[in-house]
Amino acid sequence: MSQRDLNSLIEIAQEARERAFAPFSNFRVGAAVETEDGEIYTGCNIESASYGLTVCAERVAIWKAVSEGARCFGRLVIVADTERLTPPCGTCRQIIWEHCRNTTIVLANLRGETETVDIQHLLPRAFDAKYLREAGKEKGASEG
Ligand code: THU
Repeated sequence: MSQRDLNSLIEIAQEARERAFAPFSNFRVGAAVETEDGEIYTGCNIESASYGLTVCAERVAIWKAVSEGARCFGRLVIVADTERLTPPCGTCRQIIWEHCRNTTIVLANLRGETETVDIQHLLPRAFDAKYLREAGKEKGASEG
């Protein structure tokens, strides 16, 4: 991955951040997820007056991509204006695990600082579909 390419993906996430709808927290986040064949989907956080319905930038980007048929992602950039780089929240970690397991996650701020993290580290021992499949097998076994 060339640094220049990464910088342009960060810029795209920064532009998405400008579109954040965050009138309640004023905490604006942008995200950009890139498919393995180079397509880019962006997201920003979208808040609700019913606070719990707020959706984070990462999930908006991933759901836009998945809803358009994209499945394999190379990189996910998350940008916020914080000194300490903002990591994804717990809910987003679950969604990242399910859709972007092998994705390079890049945290960035507006001062040009970046850090690469991986989801295995952010969400150890994650719950996912394999547990559902195992439960299905057990059910079949006890019934049979
Ligand atoms: N937020 C994100 O969009 N992504 C994160 O990783 C952390 C939090 C948003 C949700 C809410 O609109 C605001 O930041 C404050 O929590």
